[in-house]
Amino acid sequence: MTEIVCRCEDITEEDILDAIDQGYTTLEEIKRVLRCGMGPCQGRTCIPLITRIVARKTGKSLAEVSRPTTRPPLQPLPLSVFAGEEE
Ligand code: FES
Repeated sequence: MTEIVCRCEDITEEDILDAIDQGYTTLEEIKRVLRCGMGPCQGRTCIPLITRIVARKTGKSLAEVSRPTTRPPLQPLPLSVFAGEEE
C-alpha cells in the first residue's frame, strides 16, 4: 500500500525513499526535487512527516535533519496586490 505523505503535491513515502536512494538526503534537496512542502499548506502537514522519514532512512537524529529554508516576501505586501487590485 502506498502511503501519501504530502497530500498537497501527491507525494508518497516511496517517492521520498527513492529520492534519498538517489542521493538527495536533506529536506531542502528533497523539497526541491519532489516539490513536497510547496503546496497550499506550505509543508505544515508533511514536513514533520518527511523529517522523520529522512531521519529514519539516513540514520540521523531529528535535530540533525534541518527544516528547509522559508523565504518570505522581501517586504510585507497587502493582499490586494496579490488580488490584482493594486500595483
Ligand atoms: S501536505 Fe505537503 S505541502 Fe501541504
